[in-house]
Amino acid sequence: MARIVEYRPTDLAFEPDEDDREFRRTNRPMPTPAQRRRLERAARAAAKQSYAPYSKFRVGAAILTESGRVYAGCNVENASYGLCNCAERTAIFTAAAAGERRIRAVAVYTPTKQPTLPCGACRQVINEVGPDAVVISVCDSARRFETTLPELLPHAFGPKDLA
Ligand code: THU
Repeated sequence: MARIVEYRPTDLAFEPDEDDREFRRTNRPMPTPAQRRRLERAARAAAKQSYAPYSKFRVGAAILTESGRVYAGCNVENASYGLCNCAERTAIFTAAAAGERRIRAVAVYTPTKQPTLPCGACRQVINEVGPDAVVISVCDSARRFETTLPELLPHAFGPKDLA
C-alpha cells in the first residue's frame, strides 16, 4: 500500500516504505506499481514549488534511488536564462547531496496535455546515475509515457568512457 505523501517545501526526501524494502531485497530493476504512484505523486507535488517566472512552465520531477527513497525537485529559472535548471536535475542533485548515487526511475510532470520527455541535458545527467533508469512522463491529462534511458540516449557517453 503506497503512503500518501503531502509535499512540504522541506520534504524533498521520503523514507522507503514496505514496498521499497521488498524492492531492495530483490534488487528488481523495474519500479513497482506502488513506487510508480509515489513517484508520480511526488513529481506533481514538486511542480507547485517551481520557480519559473520567465517560461511560466512549471515542472516537477521525482526520482527513485536504489535505497528506495524518493527525491523530488522542480525547475529553477534565472534572469540569466542559460542558468535555468530543470526539475529532473534538481531532483538528482538533491539526491546526490543526500549521498545517493544510483537511481532506478525518474518521473517528470509537465503542465501539458501530452506527456513530455526529459531534455537532452537531463538525459545526460540521468545517464550518470541511472543508465538503465525507467523514465515516466505524466501531465495534465490521463496520457502518460514510459520508456528507459537507453531508449532516450543510445550510445551515451558516460563514466565508463573515462575509466
Ligand atoms: N524543463 C524542465 O524542468 N524539465 C523538462 O523536462 C523540460 C523543461 C524546464 C526548464 C525551463 O525552466 C522550462 O521548463 C522551460 O523550458
